[in-house]
Amino acid sequence: MRSFALFAVLSAFLSLPDVFAVKSHDFKTCSQSGFCRRGRALSARAQEAQSSWKSPYSIDPSSIIFSPDEAVVSASVKSSLYPEIKFGLELRIHEDGVVRVLMDEIDGLRQRYDEAAYWALVAEPQVSKTVSWTTGKKDLRAVYGDKKEFEVVVAYEPLRVTLLRNGKEQIVLNGRGLLHMEHFRTQTAKETTEEVASDESGEGQEVLQVENVRAWFEGENEDDYWSETFSKWTDSKPKGPESLSLDITFPNHGNVYGIPQHATNLSLPSTAGESPSYSDPFRLYNADVFEYLASSTMSLYGSIPVMHAHSADSTVGVFHAVGSETWIDISYPTAKSTQTHWISESGIMDVFLLPGPTPDDIFAQYARLTGTTALPAHWSLGYHQCRWNYVSSDDVRTVQRRFDEEDMPVDVFWLDIEYAKDHKYFIWDQKTFPDPVEMTNDVAANGRKMVVIVDPHLKRTSDYPIYQEASDMGILVKPTSGEGEYEGWCWSGSSSWIDHFNPASWDWWISKFKTTKLDKGFSWIESTEDVHIWNDMNEPSIFNGPEITMPKDSVHYGGWEHRDVHNINGMLFHNSTAAAVRARGDIPKRPFVLTRSFYAGSQRISAMWTGDNLGTWEHMAAGIKMVLANNIAGMAFAGSDVGGFFGNPEPEMLVRWYQVGIFSPFFRAHAHIDTKRREPFLLDEPYKSIIRDILRLRYAMLPIWYTAFRENSVTGLPIVRPHYVVFPKDPAGFAIDDQFFIGSSGILVKPVTEKEKTEATVYLPEDQVYYDYFTQYAYRGANKGKHITVPAELHQVPVFIRGGSILPTRERPRRSSPLMKLDPFTLRVALSKAGTARGELYLDDGVTYSHEQGELVWREFVAEQPQRKTTRISSKDLASAKPERAVDGVALAKYDPKNAFAKEIAEVRVEKIVVLGLSAKPSSVKVEGGKGMELKWEYVPGVAASEKKDGSASVLTIRDPKVLITEDWAIVIS
Ligand code: GLC
Repeated sequence: MRSFALFAVLSAFLSLPDVFAVKSHDFKTCSQSGFCRRGRALSARAQEAQSSWKSPYSIDPSSIIFSPDEAVVSASVKSSLYPEIKFGLELRIHEDGVVRVLMDEIDGLRQRYDEAAYWALVAEPQVSKTVSWTTGKKDLRAVYGDKKEFEVVVAYEPLRVTLLRNGKEQIVLNGRGLLHMEHFRTQTAKETTEEVASDESGEGQEVLQVENVRAWFEGENEDDYWSETFSKWTDSKPKGPESLSLDITFPNHGNVYGIPQHATNLSLPSTAGESPSYSDPFRLYNADVFEYLASSTMSLYGSIPVMHAHSADSTVGVFHAVGSETWIDISYPTAKSTQTHWISESGIMDVFLLPGPTPDDIFAQYARLTGTTALPAHWSLGYHQCRWNYVSSDDVRTVQRRFDEEDMPVDVFWLDIEYAKDHKYFIWDQKTFPDPVEMTNDVAANGRKMVVIVDPHLKRTSDYPIYQEASDMGILVKPTSGEGEYEGWCWSGSSSWIDHFNPASWDWWISKFKTTKLDKGFSWIESTEDVHIWNDMNEPSIFNGPEITMPKDSVHYGGWEHRDVHNINGMLFHNSTAAAVRARGDIPKRPFVLTRSFYAGSQRISAMWTGDNLGTWEHMAAGIKMVLANNIAGMAFAGSDVGGFFGNPEPEMLVRWYQVGIFSPFFRAHAHIDTKRREPFLLDEPYKSIIRDILRLRYAMLPIWYTAFRENSVTGLPIVRPHYVVFPKDPAGFAIDDQFFIGSSGILVKPVTEKEKTEATVYLPEDQVYYDYFTQYAYRGANKGKHITVPAELHQVPVFIRGGSILPTRERPRRSSPLMKLDPFTLRVALSKAGTARGELYLDDGVTYSHEQGELVWREFVAEQPQRKTTRISSKDLASAKPERAVDGVALAKYDPKNAFAKEIAEVRVEKIVVLGLSAKPSSVKVEGGKGMELKWEYVPGVAASEKKDGSASVLTIRDPKVLITEDWAIVIS
């Protein structure tokens, strides 16, 4: 067990915890990684040579071939360095305008790994049948788009691929000539060349010249081509060098975002010297980085190789489907342009150019490729209480009782690794958990769930059926030799790992989670369908492995090296687990699986968290940026450990951390085994009551969160949205990553992440009124943006409603979210300066897949001013209006507003409507078409939405408006 004690002492003494925490020496820098060093050296040589640098890669125009429908074009590519080596290039333009660029070595000594896209993509994309290519003397091009605004140009020599919009360059591949696909070779080649070079026949001279020609591009020596040593580990590299270097330039975009996961700013800093700058490239190599830095380009647990490039008039993106270790250099030669350099250790080139031109288009384009977050179980949006560890079933019961006694809502109790006997997952420690099924049932009795950890390392003992069965089936990852079982160390001591790339593992893994007895083999009869799963350590984390992970020369199914699939590995584990959890019962229910490691596509099935953060203010702030970065890269169901995993946060910090947590899509408190207990009920006043209110706010807002998740599941639009996404034309917002919007709701949040703050500065991006969520104070923004200072005492978190929004909430405190099913709604109508507003509400049973059969309720609320002095607020059935847009992946042809779910909640009322910003006291408030009956209402005068000034907004409160949530209605305020 890793000790936190020394770190605590050091950090208290040095008061600079971050700098001294991480064990940087466990992880490579670029200069310690052979292929990264080679890639950077290539770029340095190019820079030195300046305009005389020319990419050796070119297309042979005579080799260009079109598919019969002309949609796919392919060509042979040659490198002047190695004329005998053949490469193939292929371009496909998808129906939605995405351009896929593939390059591979043809008939090489070996095959490059080409399955990353297979795992990442939701389906094989539809290639456009209408695009046509024309070949010219110097290039090949295609013009497409509704207005023929897009153009792809493939220059022959040197090879260069450019995507343009309206004649302006958007994305350029190999514009800087850094493309290099190291071909497969045999180790003796170089030695032979040297021998020949010393031959006096003269032939040697020629070879030497070729060598020199190569040297300008590839460097003088074979730098770590054939094996590589880092610390005490040697990577045998049986395939030799096979890295891929590619420069991707955004000539007209001054900001780039994405490529999670890193603890860094949302707008990615330079790695090339422009301020602010890091010295190492951003690294994507899933890793368990102990006590990671709050600001760094170091790898973390997951990798999504997708990047957005943004400017005020255009957003484009790239997704590189590569599963091997990848380093990315970023530089900003001017304020309006960005250069990036991607260096991957192995794999083919498989780059998707996402043409945008808006952030929303990019989300849709990326979602069509890799899918969206499946609509999660509703309860999983509630509060999750975790720690390492609740030590017994009675401990779990006591914690639950304390939450109830203190009237604090919670939906899920978690069990970390200590539930499992000797860390043999699935196997309860009978001494401490003698009655797991009864314990789970006790939790479920209050509508709650349990999440139990299942890590991927299998203790190598014959009395562990999971290991023994996997071993017997031969489905464990193999060591370098390709024979036997790879063995490494993790929590369970000597362990092996299932190879989830092996299809034979899939059904077997599903069977392990069955809650009934099987004819043969282990099944988890000591669990119930209320147990969901936490997959941790799936990078994989291996304590005695190189960089705390699996040796790259270990062997997976199909003979692929771990090197090729490392970043994909964690996704396959959590995907298999989610399939297993889903398959448990007779009626499939939505699985909840939390994963630490992830890849492009992980969003389809699992939630993620940002791993072992520190209990520091810096980490609290970094968590927000990381959750935003994951959101724009599709991994929307994201959160950080509330409270910080390491350390003992003082009550002030803990309160602030809960304020951050309730505004994360995934909301879980967690703590290291060495920390003091810190469940919210343990706090003294006023902290305890403040956190109770914070928890209740999360629960009140669950309809807003669930509605945002539905939207995300259909459109790919993020659940938490940074400024550049919502206001893409406002440069003042491009670097903002400490305040954000929730879905399309109009909620703007700026959590406080600094000690002893009593005020916060918030940026309002537009000339619109923003209402304080709690006090209804109206702040008027300005055309070119404006900063306001707002109160932010410890009990206050700056939350605003953007004028023009209608928010549905449920404000009755309950113990858990399922108990809110029949609770009435409150609608907050925040009028815009024009006197209008709009909002949505999505509901379904939150558990099964019946929504895919149309068992759902999807409403639209609208406030408008049909005449001066009259405001009409109405509710209409959006699902009937847009049945095909109601549910992800299912095109409902028709929607029945009287479906079974709608009937179940038919009696659910709107109990209160609050209208902010009316310009005058109404004289009457009535239900339209009602019997002329006046509703009960009260009016507090104040600032009107149309007024260009700050101050307490006017508030009209309508109590019990006598309308139902599932029905169409209108209320007229005149
Ligand atoms: C890892 C996880 C952490 C968990 C611990 C024990 O460090 O990141 O959340 O508590 O393992 O399972």
